[in-house]
Amino acid sequence: MRIIQTIKELQQTLNQQRQTARSVALVPTMGNLHQGHLQLVSTAQRHADIVVVSLFVNPTQFGANEDLDGYPRTLQDDIDKLEALNTDILFTPSIDEMYPLGGDNTSYVHVPDITNVLCGASRPGHFDGVTTIVNKLFNISRAEFAVFGEKDFQQVAVIRRMVEDLNIPITIITEPTVREADGLALSSRNGYLSKAQRQLAPQLYATLLEVKIAINAGDKNFKQLEANAKDRLTAQGFKPDYVHIFQRNFLRPACDSDIDLIILAAAFVGTTRLIDNLSVNLSIKSL
Ligand code: PAF
Repeated sequence: MRIIQTIKELQQTLNQQRQTARSVALVPTMGNLHQGHLQLVSTAQRHADIVVVSLFVNPTQFGANEDLDGYPRTLQDDIDKLEALNTDILFTPSIDEMYPLGGDNTSYVHVPDITNVLCGASRPGHFDGVTTIVNKLFNISRAEFAVFGEKDFQQVAVIRRMVEDLNIPITIITEPTVREADGLALSSRNGYLSKAQRQLAPQLYATLLEVKIAINAGDKNFKQLEANAKDRLTAQGFKPDYVHIFQRNFLRPACDSDIDLIILAAAFVGTTRLIDNLSVNLSIKSL
């Protein structure tokens, strides 16, 4: 695996490789790689001749009181995992390389509407940071494909909208959430949990499952289901941020006639904010 730190070297390398390779797939990450990320790399390998994994803890997507400083940085471990998968290129730029004039002094990409709800409502500016860095990575790599995980469902929706609005020539591929045996969605932030918090954490998914069962049984009182789910989370020891039932494709509150739904939740366990989601298709009555 070639490890590259500068934009110039990445572009030169990809230009050379493109003489024989047909396509490039990009897997953007912030490192601390787990099985969910490795799944994205394997998917990228099935789609393209060359796979570039980017590893950059992007400061512009963290709020002032969020976990930028404490975010787990495990470079050598990440390198070992990517090498074991025969990844072609790891792009791991510095902050100066990506934001030479500083994060406050750069041009931003802003996607409207769907960034104002869910995580966007609780983390103002977060998605502007995400779309800005992802757009930069798309431009730098000129990748034909980019692969993202569905655990960050809203992030994928926002990126798809950016790609569509700005006519970016890239195909977005998504992979289902990878879970622990007890249902907890894999996340780099799970590493923050104490033993007791780790035991509680799968209840976030269990709550989503309960909502899904109720919807499948014909309950369409979505507001009440959301409120019940938040109460359930609170009773168990979470501090819920939101539980929402949305129309899956347009990311707006669900109404009676919608068939393709998604239940999305964010909740704090101690100071760790976990997110998860679960799709419900009312034309398919199973879990
Ligand atoms: O999902 C993430 O890890 C990040 O938001 C991403 C897409 C790598 C952008 O920094």
